Amino acid sequence: MLIAVDGPLASGKGTIARALSARFGLPHLDTGTLYRAVAVAVLEAGDDPADAGAAEAAARSLDPAHIDETRIRTAGAGAAASIVSAHPGVRAALKAVQQDFARTPGGAVLDGRDIGTVIAPHADVKLFVTASAEVRASRRWSELVSRGETVTLEQIMSQLAERDGRDASRPDAPLMKAEDAVELDTTDMDEGEAIRAAIAIVEGAR
Ligand code: C5P
Repeated sequence: MLIAVDGPLASGKGTIARALSARFGLPHLDTGTLYRAVAVAVLEAGDDPADAGAAEAAARSLDPAHIDETRIRTAGAGAAASIVSAHPGVRAALKAVQQDFARTPGGAVLDGRDIGTVIAPHADVKLFVTASAEVRASRRWSELVSRGETVTLEQIMSQLAERDGRDASRPDAPLMKAEDAVELDTTDMDEGEAIRAAIAIVEGAR
């Protein structure tokens, strides 16, 4: 069973994807880590994330097995990821890794922005996870503060609007609900409720 989970930043898609992976015994790929790792490589080389050539070269030489989780989880890496991910060459370079994972015998769970539309349009179940901008900003803020970053809720709100805008407006594989995806709005749900709702959707689709 192949499960695609898409949605904007801090919608709850990562938590849901991990829970589905555990519940159904399927391997999970958080595809945002790939774009974040490319962004970190570009920044650490002293290059500009807006430079398509530098970003594409970093994507081609990425080793997905050796991504440093601590370096990619910062707000800076997320912002740069949303810039490098708009380059078609970067998306093309990362597509094969994601599609190989999606071909895991027995199935897999992939979460990102374009899994149900571009990477795995043939997925058995597609979830499009959303939540209000206010709720997403406050979730993201708590997450960053718990990691020791100094950031205000206002800064998060404006970064979120900027990233949502960039992810939804890029010409190549914009953030978009697949026609056959089931939308799950987690605005008024706690983690447990969102997970139970997602499991019910997957079970209903089997
Ligand atoms: O999900 P996460 O916040 O880790 O993703 C970081 C950035 O990577 C997103 O803002 C988005 O621009 C990009 N991304 C993407 N396609 C995916 C996953 C992430 O463009 N499938």
